This record gives sequence, C-alpha cells and structure tokens, in this order.
Amino acid sequence: MDFLQITGGAKLSGSVEISGAKNAALPIIASTILAKNEVKITNMPEVVDIKTLIKLLGNLGANTKLANHTLSIDTTSINSTKATYDIVRKMRASILVLGPLLSRFGHCEVSLPGGCAIGARPIDLHLAALEKMGAQISIEDGYVVAHAPSGLKGCEIMFDKITVTGCENILMAAALAKGKTRILNAAKEPEVVQICEILRDSGLSISGIGTSEIELEGSGGELLSMPDIKVISDRIEAGTYLCAAAMSASKITLNHTQKELLGAVIDKLELMGASFEYKDESITIIPPKSLSPVEITTTEFPGFPTDMQAQFMALACVAKGVSIIDERLFENRFMHASELVRMGANIKLNGHIATITGASLKAADVMATDLRASSALVIAALGASGVSNIHRIYHLDRGYENLEGKLSALGADIKRLKED
Ligand code: EPZ
Repeated sequence: MDFLQITGGAKLSGSVEISGAKNAALPIIASTILAKNEVKITNMPEVVDIKTLIKLLGNLGANTKLANHTLSIDTTSINSTKATYDIVRKMRASILVLGPLLSRFGHCEVSLPGGCAIGARPIDLHLAALEKMGAQISIEDGYVVAHAPSGLKGCEIMFDKITVTGCENILMAAALAKGKTRILNAAKEPEVVQICEILRDSGLSISGIGTSEIELEGSGGELLSMPDIKVISDRIEAGTYLCAAAMSASKITLNHTQKELLGAVIDKLELMGASFEYKDESITIIPPKSLSPVEITTTEFPGFPTDMQAQFMALACVAKGVSIIDERLFENRFMHASELVRMGANIKLNGHIATITGASLKAADVMATDLRASSALVIAALGASGVSNIHRIYHLDRGYENLEGKLSALGADIKRLKED
C-alpha cells in the first residue's frame, strides 16, 4: 500500500487547478441511465470513486470511455439491473443507480451500501420516497429489491431530513415517472442544483431549482435526450487547498472555482484572519501569520459543509486559542481527532462537540480513516515540525485527484512512497 511522506514547514506559492466535483459527477453518471443518447461529460475528476461507478455501469452493460477528464457513456446497451455487493461495498454512493434504474426498467436490485467510518449512513428516506411513488421494495440477502411494474407515479415527497443523494435519487426517479413530483425539504447543495439543471436541459419542466421545494413533471417513461455536460468545480477540494494555504501561512491562487460555492468556508477563514481576492474563476487566499480560533457548526448548504469539518479541525489545532466544532450531520465524523492528538493536538471530544485548544504540531506516523479525515492529516502534516507519514491513503485517492502532485507543484515537501 502507498503512503504519503510530508516534511512540514514548507511555504506554498503559485496556483492550483481545481478539478470537477466528485459529488456532482457521481449523480451525473447515474443520471445517464435516463438517456436515449450517448452522453459526453467533461471536467470529470479522475478519482477512484468515479472509476468505481463507471465500472458498475459497465457491469450493467453500458458502454463507457474515460480519457483526459472526459467520460463518454451510452447506457442504451444496459442489459442488467443488478448492482452487486462487490462494487457497491466499495462506494456507497452506488445507491444513486437505484432511482434511475427503477424508473427506466421498472425493476432493479441494488446491494445495500452498508455504513462507513463516519456513520451508519442509512437509506431509509430514499426507500420510503420510492415506495410513495409506487415502488414495491423488499430487502433480500443484503439487496434492495425494487419493482414498479406499471412505472413510478409522481407525488409529493416530504423528506424528514435533508438528504443530498436521497434528493438526487428521487429527482432521477421522478424524471421518467408519470405526472408531477414535488419534493419538500429538498437539499440545496450545488451538486443537486446541477442534476436539476441537467434534467431541465434534457427537456423536463422543473421549478424551484436551488430551493427546498422542487417540482418536476416526469416524462411518463420516455427516455431523455441529454446534452453534453461539464461537471461543476469541486468546492470541497477547493476548500481543502484553502486550508493547506492557511496552515502554511502561504498566499496561493485556486483556478476553476467560484466564490459562491465556498461562502461558508470563506467566512470561517476570514474569521480566522485570512483575506481573499477574486478574479473571474479564481480565488486568491492571503492567510494571517497566525490563525485565530473559530466556532463551527456543520449543516446543510449553504451552511458550513460537514465535508470541510476535518480540515478545519486541523487548522484549529494550531490556532491561537480555543475552537469549538459541532458536527451535526454524522454521528462518527471525529475519527481524525485521535490521529491529530498523536501529532500533539489538544482536542477534547464530548459527543458531537469537539473542543480544540491551539498548540504546535509535531510530525508523526498517522493513519487515514476516511476520505476527508485523510486530507485533514495532510493539512496537519504541512504545519507540523518534522517528517510525517500518512498511511491508508487509499481513502484519499477516492476523492482527491493527484493531491501530492498538486501540493508539490505548490512547493510542499510531499512524496508518495510504497510500504515495504
Ligand atoms: C452526501 O452524502 C455526500 N456524498 C457526502 O460527502 C456528504 O458528507 C453528505 O452528502 C452531506 O453533505 C455524496 O454526495 C456522494 P445525506 P449522503 O443523505 O447523501 C441522514 C464526501 O466526503 N440520512 O445528505 O449520503 C444521514 O445519516 C462524502 O465526499 C438518513 O437518516 O448524505 C445523515 O445524518 C461523505 N436516511 C444526513 O441524513 C437517509 O435515507 C445527511 O445525509 C439518508 C440520509
């Protein structure tokens, strides 16, 4: 297995190109199941999760070609609707094929995704909504077995909790359903907005895009003519590089990103002492020499994203004072805390609240436990004195494209090595 070796203290400079958003590309790839034509998707991030979902669709019979950040996919040749455990267990967002497969074929079997390091990650809200649209759903041998022999029917769906992939699944199910579907308490993440825009550009009438109430008139079973698609910029990758700059007190520029994707993250970095310059699709961060402490509560977009919580905990470890982080979305998303403590951090956990008292960080051998925790350890190692080794970075490779290449181009002392 690979590991990353980082020598802390290097100053960063220059600019970094932000890739397409993994969490937009995943539902976009699933949405091509609704298309009657081959779809060309550009700005595709070449990360493991994307390759896993492409493999899944290939296993179902779709024709796929990924090269130079462009995916061409033709799902008209799909001849199976069973998403098997061996793939779904690798990437729980595979559940995103449930809605489109059921809506297009009237039946499908998708392995239950199971939990992951950050929590149980249930899909009860996805299933309840599909049942309300007329699906018969049972759980058999670890699979969701779904049937809708006479197709899905549009209806009103009220989500008890705001769910990003739940909302995306139902939008894709509603796209081919008969009649109108109204989603209440819908997610407003930019990745959900892009799915709505794609459905609109595929000829469906949809209103409330970007709000908590979305209305969509289904095609009644007619497959969609989908346009070419460009994946939106990855706001979490961008936020991660802003944190790397803040940790190393370095001025850097991010290209191919937009301020409106990062509002809450920029607000918190400004509270910690950073300032920003904006030009077209670029953001330049000018961090302070030393960071002020911060208080963060994670919530749904446009609030502070849970996917940036671990990275800010790393920053809080060196801020001058006491920071508080309240993780409201996932029940076990503090796995990075114990690894940061091994680097000298002073972190007290009490349920979903973390209290971090700023200190100096020392290099250590640490272990990644999940995707965003991995990037938090990278950020901490950039600010720690000495040489850190970060193990199990297969977590990192799921969602960050060429992180060590991008960071070393900025001046970080980072190498990818093989465990002997
Ligand atoms: C998406 O996960 C993202 N993944 C996650 O990013 C992100 O952390 C999360 O949204 C929150 O923003 C993708 O988009 C592929 P949810 P998702 O359904 O959709 C509960 C990353 O690092 N819930 O919005 O699975 C759930 O337990 C990943 O890139 C139910 O109870 O998250 C959680 O507490 C990690 N029942 C809350 O809702 C359900 O049926 C929000 O979860 C569904 C969700």
